[in-house]
Amino acid sequence: MATDKWTINDMPEQTGKVTIVTGANSGLGFEVVRGLARKNARVVLASRDLTKGEKALQTLQKEFPGVQLELIHLDLADLDSIRSFVDKFKQRYFRLDILVNNAGVMAIPFRKTKQGFEMQFGTNHLGHFALTGLLLPVMLDTSGQPRIVTISSGLHRQGDLDFTNLYWERNYRRGKAYGRSKLANLLFAYELQRRLKAQGTNVLSLAAHPGYAATNLQTVGAKMEESPFKEKAFLMANRLFAQSAEMGALPTLFAATAPGLNGGEYIGPGGLMELKGYPKVVSSNKKSHDPELAKKLWFVSEELTGVTFEKALTVQR
Ligand SMILES: NC(=O)c1ccc[n+]([C@@H]2O[C@H](COP(=O)([O-])OP(=O)(O)OC[C@H]3O[C@@H](n4cnc5c(N)ncnc54)[C@H](OP(=O)(O)O)[C@@H]3O)[C@@H](O)[C@H]2O)c1
Repeated sequence: MATDKWTINDMPEQTGKVTIVTGANSGLGFEVVRGLARKNARVVLASRDLTKGEKALQTLQKEFPGVQLELIHLDLADLDSIRSFVDKFKQRYFRLDILVNNAGVMAIPFRKTKQGFEMQFGTNHLGHFALTGLLLPVMLDTSGQPRIVTISSGLHRQGDLDFTNLYWERNYRRGKAYGRSKLANLLFAYELQRRLKAQGTNVLSLAAHPGYAATNLQTVGAKMEESPFKEKAFLMANRLFAQSAEMGALPTLFAATAPGLNGGEYIGPGGLMELKGYPKVVSSNKKSHDPELAKKLWFVSEELTGVTFEKALTVQR
């Protein structure tokens, strides 16, 4: 689909829509919230750090005084926190039009989530899998065409799924672990779309990636291992090669709001090597479209998180 320099100005009005953005306090998540707020969507900022979240909220409330914005705590590295987030959301809202599965960590030293999963797979994939499963009943009851947008990365191409070493108990490699989590994001987004479609629901699942955008993502790992040299190198690379977070947010906003999408699309920047540019439909690797791999990941994710999807979205083993 030719999008011809699609920007926020091309985004349809979002008045009356209820939206959730994970990792909303910084980088791309923050810019996605800004885009949605500019078009008058109600946005729930899901943030694991309430101090940072409050700061982001105040900045956005100043910029968009008439728009309903709310902060709710969400730590995707803790299944209890995810359940508690969903409970709070459901107490306040009766519809959900857009869920943006954006939060993430990249190439960090080995860490575990509260329930013991490797942190990148646990946060980027399992956390969003559980969150989506718990929110899906609300989306299925929402009129119109609700959308779930899951953020992947060009680095999904470096990922593989070794189910015998899902917890990375052996040979942890931070880059490979990130690639695995981003491959899982795509397998999940496509499988979800297949299941939603098979059930004839009105909900769409799409994926997006931002190209290379200057955010905190690149320096978090260096900070965790207290390496100021690496941190400076990443900051320098960001200055030289990355696009802004505002530009990086466009593929997500396009996936979440542009008319004419059917679900199952992957949206990324249209420039050289998909690193920068305006959004367009892009392709992902063969593995990400493997339905058998996707099914296996789905069942494993249900088992690990204890979250199963509503209304017969599950298929027979
Ligand atoms: N920037 C790029 O070039 C690039 C390229 C490809 C894909 N992506 C993807 O884009 C997404 C957003 O990343 P970004 O670039 O905007 O990075 P960022 O600025 O570091 O933002 C990541 C957000 O995720 C949050 N987060 C991390 N762990 C979390 C957890 N356990 N629970 C809840 N929230 C958590 C962070 O919270 P804190 O502020 O508390 O850390 C932050 O708000 C990620 O999925 C990333 O993989 C980014």
